[in-house]
Amino acid sequence: MGNFARALADARVIASTQIAEALEGTQGPVREAMLYATRGGKGLRAFLVLESARLHGVETDDAAPAAGAIEALHAYSLVHDDLPCMDDDDTRRGQPTVHRKWDEATAVLAGDALQTLAFTLVADAGVPDAARLTLVQTLATAAGVRGMVGGQALDIAAETAAAPLTLDQITRLQAGKTGALVEWSAMAGPRMARNDTNALGRYARALGLAFQIADDILDIEGCAATVGKAVGKDADAGKATFVSLLGLSGAKTRARALVDEACDALSVYGSDAETLRAAAEFVIARKN
Ligand code: IPE
Ligand code: IPE
Ligand code: MG
Ligand code: MG
Ligand code: MG
Repeated sequence: MGNFARALADARVIASTQIAEALEGTQGPVREAMLYATRGGKGLRAFLVLESARLHGVETDDAAPAAGAIEALHAYSLVHDDLPCMDDDDTRRGQPTVHRKWDEATAVLAGDALQTLAFTLVADAGVPDAARLTLVQTLATAAGVRGMVGGQALDIAAETAAAPLTLDQITRLQAGKTGALVEWSAMAGPRMARNDTNALGRYARALGLAFQIADDILDIEGCAATVGKAVGKDADAGKATFVSLLGLSGAKTRARALVDEACDALSVYGSDAETLRAAAEFVIARKN
């Protein structure tokens, strides 16, 4: 296993341990659905938190709650994204979606509780109070109407828009829908250390966009069994994506350029940032 694959696997374990510990003593279907929904992901966002922390001298144990927090928040966004009133999906991470395995009410509540769990966790990061407050505030912004939720709203609206979205509009949509949480993850390290977030912010903006373009490409080129979720849904829904606007090869060229841009942004870290460079390559090479 390469350094990146190992770091990603470690990040998954660290995040799920944080979530399981935070749920200790709870019981019932919502708890079970929360644990279920946080299993089986790639763990990319937790990895970005821990790796950016390492680059800024923050101990893994101190950053671990923030890694758990972002995976809980991301899982909530997926549980709600899959609901019948949103994308109406039956499969996620190769398993039935939460509303399929339980019911819609459980999925709504598990999503709600995963979101609040994220804030319980992030408030517990082992860093000075001022840094923790910044983490909480920035996570709230990234998750909300200025970030992920705002992007999701634009995405849903785009399905019924009279005219297809422009490249500018879709870039803004993706920056919210996917970019905001990816950006928060990569900026968590310097924020915990109260250091400059510029370089990792630039890295993450390019990475987040490349990530979503890859998601759109997988929706067309991927096979459902490997991707772990239904494919062909964006075109069926008439959804404007980078692929619908640029074509497959145009989208791939754009994703490649964004990965190069992401890697360029890491130059201040020199060879210390090799694992983050590998993550950028992974984002466009991944099959799920
Ligand atoms: C899927 O994210 C949703 C998007 C933002 C495109 P991931 O592909 O990171 O999902 P998991 O966590 O690995 O399942
Ligand atoms: C969902 O985007 C992103 C969020 C949940 C914020 P998509 O709808 O494209 O994600 P998938 O394809 O279902 O994973
Ligand atoms: Mg969606
Ligand atoms: Mg979806
Ligand atoms: Mg998608």
